[in-house]
Amino acid sequence: EAYDAGEHDSFMHKELLEQPACAEAVLRGRLDERFGTGHLGGLNLDARELRAIRRVKILGCGSAYYVGQMGASLIEELARIPADAEAASEFRYRNPIVEPDTLYVAVSQSGETIDTLLAVQEIQRKGGRVIGLVNVVGSAIARQVDGGIYLHSGPEVAVASTKALTNMFLAFGMLAVQLGRVRDLSIADGKRLIAGLTRIPEQIDQVLATEADLALVAKRLAEAESLFFIGRVRGFPVAREGAQKFKEITYRHAEAYQTSELKHGPLALISPEVPTVAIVPDDELVERNVAALHEIAARGGPLVVITHESVDLGDLEGIVAGRIDVPRNERELDPILLTIPLQVLAYHAALELGHDIDKPRNLAKSVTVE
Ligand code: AGP
Repeated sequence: EAYDAGEHDSFMHKELLEQPACAEAVLRGRLDERFGTGHLGGLNLDARELRAIRRVKILGCGSAYYVGQMGASLIEELARIPADAEAASEFRYRNPIVEPDTLYVAVSQSGETIDTLLAVQEIQRKGGRVIGLVNVVGSAIARQVDGGIYLHSGPEVAVASTKALTNMFLAFGMLAVQLGRVRDLSIADGKRLIAGLTRIPEQIDQVLATEADLALVAKRLAEAESLFFIGRVRGFPVAREGAQKFKEITYRHAEAYQTSELKHGPLALISPEVPTVAIVPDDELVERNVAALHEIAARGGPLVVITHESVDLGDLEGIVAGRIDVPRNERELDPILLTIPLQVLAYHAALELGHDIDKPRNLAKSVTVE
């Protein structure tokens, strides 16, 4: 059956709205509610091999790299295995150390990104084992890896990736729980997280239902030439992905920063002309995050806050240019629900500016040349 944008003005809009159904597809048949674990057969790794993993290294480009950072946090928090993400485009040029007890994870929607493919080949040449989180079945990376998880997002046409990224996060969620459950993650925590993953499709739908409100906020953001996206720890890759999506299709200068680093430099740029989109989940850092918002407000910087209903912004409540509350899930899984409004903001800002949303200038859907 032909895949077209139907009643939507763009594939990006169609793909944004497909996310609840796509999220269900990646989770289907892969959650073990009884034992509170993931059931990822395609990894080709048994419990003994999973237990032997001492480190996880995630590789991807662009947004896949940012979701990889979210995945690394999930794996460290839930499985207590040191994990980090790196831009695949840099990896092979720094003569990387490849260790046999490291699990390498290549993340790619298209499965054709040359930098990611060459990183996989470099690891394998040095004797490492790579699994793939890939959307396109039978793609070059899917064929090259030693096992993996298909994302089941269906075709993604818009250059700005949305539904595939969401499913990358969910695949990392399942992988982290599965790695955790062969180690120290308790059955109670495993069940808590599996139940959290199950709630996500419906919660994405709730975020998407606020599209009209998000469109109003986006209109204001579209006026700015330059913006900051800030977050910390779990929220920082969310900010990076938010800035990436915004710059890709609005052509505005959008810079992601750790909220904690603002005072070490970028605060000098805050002014009434430079809005900040702040990721402020209701977590252990909420008070510090709100304190940073005061610093920005004191310098006249307009604020858009992506947060939870339970967060009290105090005096800031009356002055924020926009407050977007997303549904609560388990803290570890919050990043994906905080990311969805950023996709919608970028889409509506680009629409406001009259850009070609699906085919932004200078960019290709998959980058197959070095
Ligand atoms: C995402 O919106 C971008 N178009 C881009 O960063 C993309 O994620 C990157 O090029 C990686 O593509 P892949 O997932 O197909 O490997």
